[in-house]
Amino acid sequence: MHKKSVENPEEFWGELVQEFYWNSPPTGAILDYNFDVTKGNVYVNFMKGATTNICYNLLDRKTQETDQGEKIAYYWEGNEPHDCSAITYSQLLTEVCKFANVLRSLGVQKGDRVAIYLPVIPELIYAMLACARIGVVHSIVFAGFSAESLCDRILDSQCILLVTADGFYRGEKLINLKQIADAALEKCKCKKGFVVKRCIVVQHLGNKLRKSQGKAHCNILQLFWNSETDMCWEFLMKNASEQCEPEWVDAEHPLFILYTSGSTGKPKGVLHTVAGYLIYTAISFKYIFDYHDNDVYWCTADIGWITGHSYVTYGPLANGATSVLFEGLLLYPHVGRLYEIIEKYKVTKLYTAPTVIRMLMRLGEGPVRKFNLKSLKILGCAGEPINPEAWTWYYNVIGNGQCPIMDTFWQTETTFPFFGVLPAVLNEHGEELQAEAEGYLAFKQPWPSILRTVYGDNERFETTYFKQFPGFYLTGDSCRRDGDGYYWITGRVDDMLNVSGHLLSSAEVESALSEHSAVAEVAVVSHPHPMKGECIYCFVTLKDGRELTKSISDELKSKVRQKIGPIATPDFIQNAPGLPKTRSGKIMRRILRRIACNEKELGDVSTLIDPTVVDVLFSQRGQAAA
Ligand code: WT7
Repeated sequence: MHKKSVENPEEFWGELVQEFYWNSPPTGAILDYNFDVTKGNVYVNFMKGATTNICYNLLDRKTQETDQGEKIAYYWEGNEPHDCSAITYSQLLTEVCKFANVLRSLGVQKGDRVAIYLPVIPELIYAMLACARIGVVHSIVFAGFSAESLCDRILDSQCILLVTADGFYRGEKLINLKQIADAALEKCKCKKGFVVKRCIVVQHLGNKLRKSQGKAHCNILQLFWNSETDMCWEFLMKNASEQCEPEWVDAEHPLFILYTSGSTGKPKGVLHTVAGYLIYTAISFKYIFDYHDNDVYWCTADIGWITGHSYVTYGPLANGATSVLFEGLLLYPHVGRLYEIIEKYKVTKLYTAPTVIRMLMRLGEGPVRKFNLKSLKILGCAGEPINPEAWTWYYNVIGNGQCPIMDTFWQTETTFPFFGVLPAVLNEHGEELQAEAEGYLAFKQPWPSILRTVYGDNERFETTYFKQFPGFYLTGDSCRRDGDGYYWITGRVDDMLNVSGHLLSSAEVESALSEHSAVAEVAVVSHPHPMKGECIYCFVTLKDGRELTKSISDELKSKVRQKIGPIATPDFIQNAPGLPKTRSGKIMRRILRRIACNEKELGDVSTLIDPTVVDVLFSQRGQAAA
């Protein structure tokens, strides 16, 4: 199938699109594009001229099939283990139609942008699909972002409406979401381009408190209600009709804007369009996770990330799948929560991230043994290179040595290098390397769900991905193709280490260090060196209770010497109680490089989850063992 998809894309996609509903056919080629900046603007069109509706494809068609309407779309599992519910496909359709009508009644129209700032609750899915149903572009902002970040994103995509909630619990911590949203809107008001007219508030905690009669908590949030803009979700939904005619939009109509993780700079508003995204999330879900009718699927990512958009919402629904929708934290109220949920819902396919696996690995096998994970059939991971240590643990301990692991490389911009994806490995002159090789990872042609632009900044879109090597989409990752034709992603190009003229990947050195039994997590960056040009500076998080002694440092160095060679011997090893990470769990090595140099100017840090980590690392710099 892959061979056909790259050699004869028209026929390949032409057949696949028949499985979806089109209100009218395309007017030209199925996949039409220009990847070469020297020949004009970069563009990608998939099924251009055809009209369709993604929500109709996911829900209406499914519920029309016999029995499918009664099938569970989501098992919602709240922050507290006893707080859960199940939503069928027909209930989902009803709620989506109602909210789509609410949006229409408030004057929201096709092409308008709506910001959604919610925890992982069913209303988040209703809101995003309601937007899709009426051709409105959703811009979801992860509920862990600050008022400042929310404000930036609202302004950048000029949203006219915000959907949020009163509050929620993240573990034991009460998050007063409405208060943060208020602060964001207040900040926005001072800036030009601000157009938010309404704020719809889901009474998530309010509902919970009422249900549990927890009077003591009733005033805990002290909501400020702005009667000019704020509206109550429940109230609006009560009066809304359950019938809603979908808006038939062009295949290339925008579906959503989502901001990149910001690990390499200021977040970009990636724009995705309807048809290509629908087809690609649908088929990647089906083939990569080998989806079958009675599977229970769980992707642990928050819907606020591209992984959640694609594999909590669109991909599973396009296949009529049953998924777990999890609001809480994987270690709350106890460290075995992930395993408990797998057992409770008999999860068959699990999709998570290397950072989660490393965190669980650090806590040992004890908690795993308490639960029955026999239902698992396939494991997936994505987000960062997975080190062999974590892969082996995932495979043996969680998968009991019986589940294949799908390591899926993709980006907010791209989605899977899968059907239609033709990778190339380039050297620094942009020349394509053949057979076994190492270099820049690029793609030679588009696939249906590649990003279409950076919202409001097409120039940045072309510069970031297409200008450096005309004719190629450049990922910004380095990779090695081995003798069997496998691609090993070795990390971001910006994170490469050049020691005495030898190019090393941070992933390679980190993987060697991770093999030491005292190490929980590490990050390696380059540091200027008078002789070598660059040398290696390591930030090491040790397992609970361990101390970074001289002997551990020496052992770590010899690990690297053994595994990679003397050239890679670290010059500095610094203890790191925590590492600076984006809210999606990616290590921000560009910040570590600055810390290593004691450089206080850190650049854009708006996506950093815990800024205090940075202060601690600065204060402990002096103790780095040279
Ligand atoms: C960057 C994209 C969950 C992926 C979508 C969100 C890194 C992603 C892998 C993997 C090695 C990976 C790359 C990529 N990455 N998946 N399986 N192996 N590296 O991702 O926030 O848009 O970031 O994540 O560096 O360019 P994103």
